[in-house]
Amino acid sequence: MARVSAASLQRLRRKGEKIACLTAYDAGCAAILDSAGVEVVLVGDSLGMVLHGEATTLHVRMQDMIYHTRLVRRGVRRALLATDLPFLSYATPAQALGNAGRLVREAGAEMVKLEGGAELTETVRLLVGAGIPVCGHLGLRPQSVLRLGGHRAPKRKREDDDRLLEDALALQEAGAALLVLECVPAALAQRVTAALSIPTIGIGAGPHCDGQVLVLYDLLGIGERRPSFSRDFLATGGGIRGAVREYVRQVKDGGFPGAAETPA
Ligand code: KIV
Repeated sequence: MARVSAASLQRLRRKGEKIACLTAYDAGCAAILDSAGVEVVLVGDSLGMVLHGEATTLHVRMQDMIYHTRLVRRGVRRALLATDLPFLSYATPAQALGNAGRLVREAGAEMVKLEGGAELTETVRLLVGAGIPVCGHLGLRPQSVLRLGGHRAPKRKREDDDRLLEDALALQEAGAALLVLECVPAALAQRVTAALSIPTIGIGAGPHCDGQVLVLYDLLGIGERRPSFSRDFLATGGGIRGAVREYVRQVKDGGFPGAAETPA
């Protein structure tokens, strides 16, 4: 059983094999994801909303991310374990290095994710130089909810699309190994994916990314409302293990996301 690494994700992209990624916040779910063949298990700061019941991710603290990453670490044997740096934990490069280092050393994370574009290149360079793989996150950035005025993706103009592509290239140039694209029109996600050499992972970004990610609770229909880009995998999977296996299968064979889950 070969462990998944940033290099093996790159190989999957080159082979044209889609990458399956899901969030987990505890050891039991992480073990189910790991044995179902999920390549990246993400301890997302979405835990602030789906576990803590808050309206945003802004209250999530470093100690929450360390605690949940430790739990997930116990369930993951093969997948790559990525963890979000929470709101205000990477406001300066030095702060980012200290906090990313804690996620790696104290909790067992193998990659950290941060939200932002070209303004983060110095931070990304510092982390990567210190040996910490980095995942970028562009498009809808939940940690910017106060500035955006909500969780809806804002209306995009042509120059916004060009800026997103520039941000993606800047993150790649700084050394990011992976890039999440959240709630980005499918055509733009396709353009960014074609321009990059690192894998892109979409959520509400259509079928052309190199992989897909969902919040596990959305896949299982635990929340009150299922986001339009998610699907009821529990119905077809017939149980939690089956639902996760079905998600992996459909990501791999291109069945998910379909037209119904793809933004214009
Ligand atoms: O916090 C999270 O779970 C995430 C994913 C939705 C990509 O960032």
